[in-house]
Amino acid sequence: MSKTILITGGAGFIGSHVVRLFVNKYPNYTIVNLDKLTYAGNLQNLVDIELKNNYVFEKGDIVDKKYIYNLFEKYKFDGVIHLAAESHVDRSITNPMDFIMTNVVGTVNLLNAAKESWKLNNKKNHLFYHVSTDEVYGSLGEKGLFLETTPYDPQSPYSSSKASSDHFVRAYGNTYNLPFVISNCSNNYGPNQFPEKLLPLFINNIKKGIELPVYGDGNFTRDWLYVKDHAIAIDKIFHHGNIGDTYNIGGFNEWKNIDLIKVLCKQMDIALNKEQGSSASLITYVKDRPGHDKRYAIDANKLKNELGWEPSLQFEEGLAKTIAWYLENQEWMDNVTSGEYQNYYKEQYS
Ligand code: NAD
Ligand code: TYD
Repeated sequence: MSKTILITGGAGFIGSHVVRLFVNKYPNYTIVNLDKLTYAGNLQNLVDIELKNNYVFEKGDIVDKKYIYNLFEKYKFDGVIHLAAESHVDRSITNPMDFIMTNVVGTVNLLNAAKESWKLNNKKNHLFYHVSTDEVYGSLGEKGLFLETTPYDPQSPYSSSKASSDHFVRAYGNTYNLPFVISNCSNNYGPNQFPEKLLPLFINNIKKGIELPVYGDGNFTRDWLYVKDHAIAIDKIFHHGNIGDTYNIGGFNEWKNIDLIKVLCKQMDIALNKEQGSSASLITYVKDRPGHDKRYAIDANKLKNELGWEPSLQFEEGLAKTIAWYLENQEWMDNVTSGEYQNYYKEQYS
């Protein structure tokens, strides 16, 4: 069946993997990638699919009501997969307002446009998919896992904005019968991640011999999932998830930051043919992030049992692939760190 799907934030890290998967897997769909191209949006993530017939790029801001309404009018979307967001916790601490605007106001803007545009049609054919984070559940102690029923308890401006947008999505389902689904995923890693996040930042620093800033004592725990496995989960949930449901997505793969960093350092020494221990010598403990959540851990068994999804990669394999990708794509990293990537839209699209 042919469909027109709006994917927001498709030039970002996870969005670009979702766009690629959908464009390649569903040649009968039209995939419209809407992205504002903030610092985190990089069209060079999509060079391999940008000329495909079923792919369209639209540069725009989800906060711009008129623009969004016109876009829905133009394309008559059957479904929305909403990833566009401000996504970095540290930036949310220094500039929370950007997070409120994009993550909350932008999401509500999209919900309104979907509600208005879809009310004329049979709603069963439509779906608003909100891609969210496990950080909405707050911070765990030493034990326990986040379930879909865990009460929300967001602690950072980022997670508060994502929690708020999740609530609005559910409220539109409850109040206006908007068909929706939400997934809350753990920390992603893999190719194309902006080097402000832990793994790409540390890979790049090791390559350049720059210090590795470990926040606090490094004893903070995260669950890690390879980004392509997240994209596969999104595809499953989009096509087979229960309308109105929430799905947790995770890697069954918890690591204390410092342990993860030590494994990374070992693998980097091998990949760069350096003496064992030389990358680890760059580890530097720095001032902790304010309000730093101690532990996130996901129970993704609902998704596994109901939709048959499981991570396809073991962590060591995913990490090795990730390191190989960053080392083989030094030009991508250089373009990002120099800012050159921001010229690509002007050069190719206008
Ligand atoms: P990212 O920062 O790499 O990409 C975000 C994209 O959204 C960028 O391309 C950016 O240009 C675009 N964008 C930002 N503001 C916009 C606006 N106002 N209008 C249109 N586009 C805009 O983020 P990511 O890591 O790929 O995360 C994608 C989604 O997944 C986010 O909603 C995030 O909350 C969620 N998520 C991320 C992780 C993770 O580990 N990265 C984990 C779970 C959930
Ligand atoms: P990050 O990649 O920013 O993701 P999130 O905050 O959404 O979990 O950080 C992952 C973990 O690594 C988190 O506990 C903070 C820590 N961290 C550092 O210790 N140093 C760094 O330079 C960064 C970016 C993160």
